[in-house]
Amino acid sequence: MERTDMRDDAKEPAETQLQHWQNTYTAHPGLYGEEPSALAVHAAQVFRAAGAKDVLELGAGHGRDALYFAREGFTVQATDFSPVGLEQLRQAARSQDVAERVSIAVHDVREPLPLADASVDAVFAHMLLCMALSTEAIHTLVGEVRRVLRPGGVLVHTARHTGDAHYGAGTAHGDDIYEHGGFAVHFFPRRLVDFLADGWTLDEVHAFEEGDLPRRLWRVTQTSAPVSPDPIPAADITVDGTGLLCVTLLLRLRKQIEGAPPGTVVHVIATDPAAPLDLPAWCHMVGHDYLGPMSGARQVYAFRLAAAARSTLPDAPWHLAPIP
Ligand SMILES: C[S@@+](CC[C@H](N)C(=O)[O-])C[C@H]1O[C@@H](n2cnc3c(N)ncnc32)[C@H](O)[C@@H]1O
Repeated sequence: MERTDMRDDAKEPAETQLQHWQNTYTAHPGLYGEEPSALAVHAAQVFRAAGAKDVLELGAGHGRDALYFAREGFTVQATDFSPVGLEQLRQAARSQDVAERVSIAVHDVREPLPLADASVDAVFAHMLLCMALSTEAIHTLVGEVRRVLRPGGVLVHTARHTGDAHYGAGTAHGDDIYEHGGFAVHFFPRRLVDFLADGWTLDEVHAFEEGDLPRRLWRVTQTSAPVSPDPIPAADITVDGTGLLCVTLLLRLRKQIEGAPPGTVVHVIATDPAAPLDLPAWCHMVGHDYLGPMSGARQVYAFRLAAAARSTLPDAPWHLAPIP
């Protein structure tokens, strides 16, 4: 499995990162330049098409994108945990004469968003979800974003992915977080993007590059749409994987579904914390139709057997068997 286990010190970089960003913005005012990112230019079009008038930006830094949204006529709430970055944003908003459309708040995204339910049209987060945040913290944050978005509201975010040159470089903190040059980054595998869009409409996932390194990122657009009212069908087969880790669970699962006809609905009871990511990824690889977690039963996941599913190697369920 690609995923590394969370080490005890995985929370450590998040604690030290605030000071690192404060120092970085102090030493390099306007670090990312005055021009908006290409991502913000794209997002403005997406937000306009969705009828959005106000934008909440998370991890706005010194505000190259928040200021662009304001110049484009949006009302912007810009947040970051670095007061130094936000002070640069405040001064630039005044000099660009857009201060009345920009409100600024120091906020650490590891805390709940200080906003009412269904109170914003759009949320923008460029390279924020991939900061030194555990998978659990990112998942909680995306839940918070969903809470504050109006129904039909849009989230555009980016995250550096596991194809980035810095993935695996520097100090490993577990949970795919690596610290390089003082910056801790959580590199996203594609399945994390899908996991974070569970219950949303995933409108777009696009791989792109930014800067000289270059940074390699996912650009993700997802809409807060009602979850499908269709209930997940009752189980034809239930696999009890309580206490099993991923590979052992998959070996048991494979044995129990052997010979079952296409269309069979399988429920898997899984306590491995990686199961919410690994089960959909395995279904996707093999070709089965992943149906999602059962509502109200957070450790039960469902999928439907597909006719064209691929076989996996006898002792390695993460590897497809050669096509005969
Ligand atoms: C890679 S920079 C991107 C800045 C800005 N989005 C841009 O593209 O110009 C990441 C930003 O996230 C902020 N940040 C990192 N961890 C954060 C946290 N836990 N809560 C809020 N902001 C955070 C940093 O201060 C920094 O401004």
